[in-house]
Amino acid sequence: MELRDKKVIVTGGVRGLGRRMVERLAAKGARVTVFDLDAAGLEELGRRVGVAGCVECDVSDYEAVAAATARYHDESGAADVLVNNAGILHSAPLIRIGPAGVERHDAAAWQRVLAADLSSVFYMTACVVEKMVATRTRGVVVNISSVSAAGNAGQSAYSAAKAGVNALTATWAKELSMMGIRVAAVAPGFTETESTREALSEAVLKETIKRVPLRRLGRPEEIADGVVHVIENDFFNGKVFELDGGLIL
Ligand SMILES: NC(=O)c1ccc[n+]([C@@H]2O[C@H](COP(=O)([O-])OP(=O)(O)OC[C@H]3O[C@@H](n4cnc5c(N)ncnc54)[C@H](O)[C@@H]3O)[C@@H](O)[C@H]2O)c1
Repeated sequence: MELRDKKVIVTGGVRGLGRRMVERLAAKGARVTVFDLDAAGLEELGRRVGVAGCVECDVSDYEAVAAATARYHDESGAADVLVNNAGILHSAPLIRIGPAGVERHDAAAWQRVLAADLSSVFYMTACVVEKMVATRTRGVVVNISSVSAAGNAGQSAYSAAKAGVNALTATWAKELSMMGIRVAAVAPGFTETESTREALSEAVLKETIKRVPLRRLGRPEEIADGVVHVIENDFFNGKVFELDGGLIL
């Protein structure tokens, strides 16, 4: 797909990888609308980057997604591209053995991560693709997954959510290709972002980098380039594009 003048929705575009995707897509001439729950961040983003629109929306809340996408469709019509990027990183094992004894994974944290990282992808895609199909728009959906989908010790909920995202990617490619809609995923490895720095201590980060054959973290622009590539290459479908420096081989 040629991106110039295409209507693109990016969720979680205020900071981190999403922010870099918004900048790359806008530089390609796309009309990018950002859905994010960070109201102050959206206001700042709208002033600094050439975005077409900013929508305050918690994408883990189905009613909020249905209302926000309906407003978007009234104003702009069907989107050509949806990038499901919003998500939260959460690290916790099933069982933790600590000074307080044996402790199990918190059920509320499980629900929160599944809602933010998996249900959000389902809600946004259902609402946005429904309009694409109704208007016979030939579109693309890009889901941001993670190498943790393969199963990462210490990340029960996050790994499960991202494995679910990969399964939805394959399922929807099979369902929607006949309607001219491609669905694919990009799975970053450990990338140089605020969220990575917030989630991993300096010591853990050093150990992680040692496991990457390229001996470094990914750069946000390399992930954003991957998203652009997946959108532009019309034969990439149903698959996960892994950008991890060779971490999982
Ligand atoms: N950073 C990494 O190393 C890395 C690695 C693999 C996968 N990922 C994936 O990439 C995506 C982006 O990660 P990041 O590191 O840039 O995160 P981040 O925390 O830096 O940014 C996430 C953005 O999403 C928004 N957001 C979060 N929950 C939301 C919700 N419920 N509704 C609307 N907006 C919401 C936040 O406000 C923020 O703008 C995530 O899906 C993450 O799982 C990141």
